[in-house]
Amino acid sequence: MAVLSAGEEGNSTPQKRKLRSSSNVSLMKRSPISSPRKLKSSRRCISTSPNAAATENGMGTHKKQTELCNYPAKPLLDTSTPKPKWNPKDGEQVRVVKEALHVSSVPSTIVCRDDQHNVVLGFCKSCIEQEKAGSVYICGCPGTGKSLSTEKVKMLLLNWARESGFLQPDVLTINCTSLANTSDIFSKILGLNQPRRKNGSTTPLQQLQNMYSQKSSSKNMLLVVADELDYLITKDKAVLHDLFMLTTFPFSRCILMGIANAIDLADRFLPRLKSLNCKPMVVTFRAYSKDQILRILQERLSELPYTVFQHQALELCARKVAAASGDMRKVLCICRSAIDVLEAEIRESTCTSDVASEEKLSPEQNIATIADYMKKHEADIVRIDHMARALSKTYRSPVVDTIQSLPHHQQIILYSSMKHFRGAKKETILGELYKSYMDMCKSSLIPPAGILEFSNMCRVLNDQGLVKLGQSREDKLKKVALNVDEADITFALQDIRFFRNYLQ
Ligand SMILES: Nc1ncnc2c1ncn2[C@@H]1O[C@H](COP(=O)(O)OP(=O)(O)OP(=O)(O)O)[C@@H](O)[C@H]1O
Ligand SMILES: [Mg+2]
Repeated sequence: MAVLSAGEEGNSTPQKRKLRSSSNVSLMKRSPISSPRKLKSSRRCISTSPNAAATENGMGTHKKQTELCNYPAKPLLDTSTPKPKWNPKDGEQVRVVKEALHVSSVPSTIVCRDDQHNVVLGFCKSCIEQEKAGSVYICGCPGTGKSLSTEKVKMLLLNWARESGFLQPDVLTINCTSLANTSDIFSKILGLNQPRRKNGSTTPLQQLQNMYSQKSSSKNMLLVVADELDYLITKDKAVLHDLFMLTTFPFSRCILMGIANAIDLADRFLPRLKSLNCKPMVVTFRAYSKDQILRILQERLSELPYTVFQHQALELCARKVAAASGDMRKVLCICRSAIDVLEAEIRESTCTSDVASEEKLSPEQNIATIADYMKKHEADIVRIDHMARALSKTYRSPVVDTIQSLPHHQQIILYSSMKHFRGAKKETILGELYKSYMDMCKSSLIPPAGILEFSNMCRVLNDQGLVKLGQSREDKLKKVALNVDEADITFALQDIRFFRNYLQ
């Protein structure tokens, strides 16, 4: 695993300015080249605004660049061999794991983006083969792997050109937010084509336009990767337009790869290109689904020689983020935050056991306490409750608020429903659910409500949209199903002391 390199000019990723909404999810059916539909997530994200998601790219600080991570080499373990558990008290291990989950760490394998890679790579290859200019516009929500994929495609293209005996294109990678003046993009492009020469009256754009209007002796194609193109949309649409127009000149040798969040850039901002029939090819990066997130996480974590997360914890994170935004950056951030939660818990219990040891315990009690502590923490991996806490720091939803403000017995009903419906069952009858509720009350020494009161409480939960209650003359036979995400119940109840032990 390596860290994003900033080798090329302008390839820095400064604090991002975003137009984006982290809750917009663009959808693409089978073909990656389509105009996606936008969905609004019902979830509200309070601890991180869309902008914060962006600045998270650098984890609030400057991105670590050019350095290589010292990961232990990928173990040559049979995948069926369970890995040893990690030791979260080992600072070095924690560092390595957090680095593997850092947004600036480039994974050695990129999964789930093969279609997009193939389309973009195929397009660029054909431009090189035919020595023909062209543009491709890569769009999608934040954290959907656009920059990562483009970087990979660029490498694949250069390798392919070398291996197939084509002249390698010159490459210019620009993060548009790093441009002091938007039109600087033209001087950068010009700089690659020819050494900067002062030409009093003509601007770099005009020089490029002149250059691409006449036959040139230069055979090299130029690949321009312009990331964060949204910046040009807001700052200077004319520059954006002129940039894409460069690929339409008769002797242009420019292959432009533009990357942004806006999905309708071509239609809205490049009408002239449209009328010239030179619309860029559009490749959309859909928000990641739960399964894709899980797969990406597992792939990234497979680089580590130990097990850090309980599978269910990863699943919870994947489900929650997929439902909210499908933003992989957020996933990585939440996983790191879950490690922090585990670390804090360990620190807390170490303090508690220190205090206990200062109290006058008999030697037997002391041994029991320490043994207990050791047993509990032997298998310290990030569990579902740690993940739920990390997620709740990021997401809140009206449903979570509603559950948290319910009376205690209604919360118990919801919790026992969640347990009841774990597994394949989706629906039961009230009488059965009542038994689960009674069991939970008994196990926690709480006097249960009678069936009539239970039924009334279920009706209230039904009215709040938290459960679905069917019709029947007899209460006990009413069909009942849970109407909220299990993760929402877990979030909502995890901070209530009564439920904490159950949720662990
Ligand atoms: N398929 C993937 N496999 C592994 N990691 C991924 C994948 N997709 C995204 N990531 C990780 O998620 C983070 C965000 O990805 P990336 O920067 O490519 O998103 P983006 O689409 O360019 O977002 P933005 O629109 O905010 O610039 C990165 O840390 C990247 O390594
Ligand atoms: Mg990006």
